[in-house]
This record gives sequence, C-alpha cells and structure tokens, in this order.
Amino acid sequence: MQETLFDDQYSNTGQSAPAYGSLEELYQASRNCTRCRLSETRTNYVFGEGNPEARIVVIGEAPGAEEDAQGRPFVGRSGKLLDKILEAIGFSRHDVFICNIVKCRPPQNRNPQADEIEHCLTWLYAQLDLIRPDILLLLGRVAANTILDNNSSMGSMRGRILKWKGYDVVVTYHPAALLRNPNWKYNCWEDVKMLRTHYDTICAENHQ
Ligand code: URA
Repeated sequence: MQETLFDDQYSNTGQSAPAYGSLEELYQASRNCTRCRLSETRTNYVFGEGNPEARIVVIGEAPGAEEDAQGRPFVGRSGKLLDKILEAIGFSRHDVFICNIVKCRPPQNRNPQADEIEHCLTWLYAQLDLIRPDILLLLGRVAANTILDNNSSMGSMRGRILKWKGYDVVVTYHPAALLRNPNWKYNCWEDVKMLRTHYDTICAENHQ
C-alpha cells in the first residue's frame, strides 16, 4: 500500500490511515467535521478548491469572514491579492489548488490553536496525498511553521527552495501581511518568480 503523509499519526493506534479515492470522497468525509471547537462557530467548512491535478498547492492559514460565508478559500481581500500574485507569474487559481492549514474560521480571525491544527492536518495531508503536487507554496508563518514543524522566522525560510517529505517548498508572506505592510511585496515577488522558474525547470525535466 502507498505510504501516506499521515501514517505517522496512526502509527501508535494499531489502525491504518484511511485512504480516500478522490478529493470529492475526501470532501464528503470531512465536510461535517466536528473534531475541534471551530466546527461550533463556522458558517461553512472551507475544503479548498482548484485543479485536482495541480503541480502546485497553495496553503494559507485559515478561512476569514468572507471565506466562511462563501465556503471558498481566499475570496476576500487577501484572496484578490493572491489572484494578482498568481497572475503575475502566469497562473490563475484554476492552475493550482488552494487550501488552508485549518478548514474552519477561527472566531475573530485569531490564530488557529495547536490542537485545532493537529486535528485538521489529517485533512490537509489527505488532500496532498491525493493531489501529489511537486511544489507547496506556503503563505505566512502559520502555514510554514506548521508544515515545516519549526518556529523559524519568515526571513530564514523565504527566498529558497526547501524540502519537506519529498515536496519542494516555497515560503512567502501571507497576502494579509502584504496588505498591512506593502514593503514586503518586493520580497514576495522575488519568491514567486523563484517558484515560477523552479516550476518551469521541473516541467522541462518531466518532458525530457
Ligand atoms: N487567509 C487565509 O489564510 N486563508 C483564506 O482562505 C483567506 C484568508
């Protein structure tokens, strides 16, 4: 059986990680999730959306008010900026898959708490196991520190290609942070240009 990203979490339980046949099946299995308190205050579960065969998965932090209202990721102000960032490197949101570390909005947009993240990560890992992209684009420190399991600063993670469990990883600023601090846009532009170049290199290698 193919090893899944979340086998580790099942290693002490005597159970094997559940396998899902498709993103639709995973969505149906997860949409009524009540594993954590965020399910009590959400309007909509925000699974994520985009190309199920995407080579790039974009991972944000958590749904905000607009995302909670619509059940779709990155559709508010941050989402409009994310669309522009993707466009600037020749992608639309239909080329990538966009999701978040946690699938339900934390009240008052507070940071997701450790136990909420832990419960929700199995859904994200299952998404990655199904999509099997080449590259993860992690937006902001919550996404990057969670996936890379560190407490590193943005400055020490951005600007280079990192590796995590066989995926190539690019870390950059969260669009909400760029809206608050436009001075960081230049660095973000450098990061996503690097992502595009890396993506083109992978595509060229795959066609050789
Ligand atoms: N911020 C995020 O991290 N994710 C969203 O979906 C929207 C805003």
